[in-house]
Amino acid sequence: MAKLKWLPSFEIGHKALDDDHKELIEILDQVDTVLASGDNERAKDLVELLIDSVRKHFVHEEAVLAEIGYPRLRGHENHHIRILERADKIRENFNSASEQADLERVYEDLVSFLVADIIEADTEFKSYLQHT
Ligand SMILES: [Fe+2]
Ligand SMILES: [Fe+2]
Repeated sequence: MAKLKWLPSFEIGHKALDDDHKELIEILDQVDTVLASGDNERAKDLVELLIDSVRKHFVHEEAVLAEIGYPRLRGHENHHIRILERADKIRENFNSASEQADLERVYEDLVSFLVADIIEADTEFKSYLQHT
């Protein structure tokens, strides 16, 4: 499976939020390592941890955006709500997968979910952050 790495283009320029995003990538990278070792139960625990960490990150991020007066906060909060609904579906798929190939397919969903929907979606407030 493709190794997931932090890329400079993921940076939004807010240290605490970037650190959160890095931590999410690290957890997902551990899922990859554990899946490769065949410890699927541990992989499922890590997916739980990942989704829990995403939830906490959203609370943190919304507090930061509120503090800096980000004008489109409501829209971003709604985006987070939709993401958590999608996370629940991915978790169900992961927990019900029994074949290794199914687990790996759900893992690939998680990669695009984390990179595109969570990290890259935050670039919408990157330029706002740079002007505060
Ligand atoms: Fe974020
Ligand atoms: Fe976000």
